[in-house]
Amino acid sequence: MSQSSAGSIESVLQEGRKFAPRAEFTARANISSEAEYEKMWNRAKDDPAGFWGELAENLTWFKKYDSVLSGNMPDTKWFNGGKINASVQCLDRHLTSWRKNKAAIIWEGEPGDTRVLRYQDLYREVCQFANVLKSLGVKTGDRVTLYMPMIPELAIAMLACARIGATHSIIFGGFSADAIADRNNDAKAKVVVTADGGWRRGKVVSLKAAVDESMERSPSVEKVVVVRRTGSDVTMTPDRDFWWHDLMQDADTDCDPVELDSEHPLFILYTSGSTGKPKGVLHTTAGYMLGTMMTSKWVFDLKDDDTYWCTADIGWVTGHSYIVYGPLANGATTMMYEGAPNWPDEGRFWNLVEKYKVNIFYTAPTAIRAFIKWGDQWPGKYDLSSLRLLGSVGEPINPEAWMWYHRVIGQERCPIVDTWWQTETGAIMISPLPGITAAKPGSCTKPLPGVVPDIVRKDGTSVGANEGGLLVMKQPWPSMLRTLYGDHERFVSTYFGDIEGCYFAGDGARKDSDGYYWVMGRVDDVLNVAGHRLSTMEIESALVSHPNVAEAAVVGFPHDLKGEGICCFVSLKSGDGNDELIKELTAHVRKQIGAVATPDVIRFATALPKTRSGKIMRRLLRDVAAGRVSTQDTTTLEDLTVLEKLRQDED
Ligand code: PRX
Repeated sequence: MSQSSAGSIESVLQEGRKFAPRAEFTARANISSEAEYEKMWNRAKDDPAGFWGELAENLTWFKKYDSVLSGNMPDTKWFNGGKINASVQCLDRHLTSWRKNKAAIIWEGEPGDTRVLRYQDLYREVCQFANVLKSLGVKTGDRVTLYMPMIPELAIAMLACARIGATHSIIFGGFSADAIADRNNDAKAKVVVTADGGWRRGKVVSLKAAVDESMERSPSVEKVVVVRRTGSDVTMTPDRDFWWHDLMQDADTDCDPVELDSEHPLFILYTSGSTGKPKGVLHTTAGYMLGTMMTSKWVFDLKDDDTYWCTADIGWVTGHSYIVYGPLANGATTMMYEGAPNWPDEGRFWNLVEKYKVNIFYTAPTAIRAFIKWGDQWPGKYDLSSLRLLGSVGEPINPEAWMWYHRVIGQERCPIVDTWWQTETGAIMISPLPGITAAKPGSCTKPLPGVVPDIVRKDGTSVGANEGGLLVMKQPWPSMLRTLYGDHERFVSTYFGDIEGCYFAGDGARKDSDGYYWVMGRVDDVLNVAGHRLSTMEIESALVSHPNVAEAAVVGFPHDLKGEGICCFVSLKSGDGNDELIKELTAHVRKQIGAVATPDVIRFATALPKTRSGKIMRRLLRDVAAGRVSTQDTTTLEDLTVLEKLRQDED
């Protein structure tokens, strides 16, 4: 475990504050007593099939499954033999009730334009786009890449894929042409859906140009559909590129959902690994839908009269599970906002909360740190009294940020759910239940029903209270990833290779004497920059692809706003580094990977610290990057003077 995570344990260890929900909240909560939670949790642990089988009655099935759970981790199957369709859970079943006229999606674009799609509007457009996909040759089992801004068409395209059993692969709009090509090729995507651009801080993000560039290296892609969003000029390649609105005009408004196996692949989402190329995390249909539906209800306490807003981008798993699938499966009203939180000014989010009377607000610690920096005057200008519940996700929330969120945004009235989960887990795993859990700032508290975690040493033995260790799952859960697309072996070795019989995806944690979990961050070399997982290895590869770079090592360092910043140590082939080259390398990384990976610091070094076998010792560089005096074991270091030299360079 790195020094930085050890450091964060110490600060949270001193955290003794506890905040219980108010009686008014508890009285109306979906889970309202500790005894109820205990009963659910024990039942799910002792009889997972019985527990999840009963909950699965809440899904709409074409054909009931033969068994709830079969097999053991890593190869589990949920609801085997059942026939189901995710779009039916999110749409069709709401049309037979009063919800047909309920707002499904309330959307606001960055320039201030708005759209409200009622459930029947969303249904109609999803059916139309499903027919469009079919007309472009997309069949059940094919993959479709979505590289889009935060506009309703993105949710429509996801659900349209689900309707016909095409597997979507969403690529966050901040990624570059190369990243798109890599993902298109890995998934062998047949169609790409994009837009002429999206609005971000008053400027157009040119998505179509990046797609065009990626096409040279994406041989599997046959057609590209382009949403007109910004009206900016784009090049349309005849017979390959089509405007969304042209295709939709002629499309039928009915499209029968395909009856899919419970384990049919719903989506692939690429996430960084510590080594090698990005991992195509694959989620399937029934278990994922059940997991996201139930956790939305339990953790966000969703009610029919709530306006719920998750500020994530749909390009990340949070947006998949908690903007689209989870809320819509519950028939909730989910809000979507296209742009930046500081456009036209730093009050935009609070303006949206006031304007739409948002009740439930789910964001990331990195955003909270930015709000703190911008000052209390921004939320202070708006009426936030509609808020009743706040959430946080993406990285450990620092207790002082938690307190600010509680005091300034929640006005000491709203419970905060600090939700721990991962792309791989599909749904929230460890989180307060807002009606019953007394929150401790910085702790994600306790496992949800159906989640059986432990904290273990490398040999698999459980650690004691307040002792740090590896956070593992001992029992399978319905929304867990089923494989890494095209590389089942890597799936098995990455998640099940470390601790016998357990799932381990890389986080360190400790449990306090009340049984509360405190996640300490990742134990490997993956960075968590502004809530986004980035592979150090990918950034290093990008740097090394510059003609003047000999070698690079990338590490994270504590960053006020982003949680972790990106520090690059670069050794050059010839000559000395200078400001010009720093600019050039920064631009180079942005081009190769995307703006999310923009280096915060680039330092030139004549040599990097390595082990005798030639592995760069990033754990030592982390100390240098953070300006700490290292107390780490340096016995495997090949040349001690290298470290000394790096420190002197800093002075
Ligand atoms: O390290 C944990 C951190 O984010 C990682 C998962 O990242 P990703 O797959 O991109 O998914 C982010 C959204 C679910 C985890 O391994 N993380 C996420 N939520 C928390 C967290 N760390 C501490 N507390 C959290 N609430």
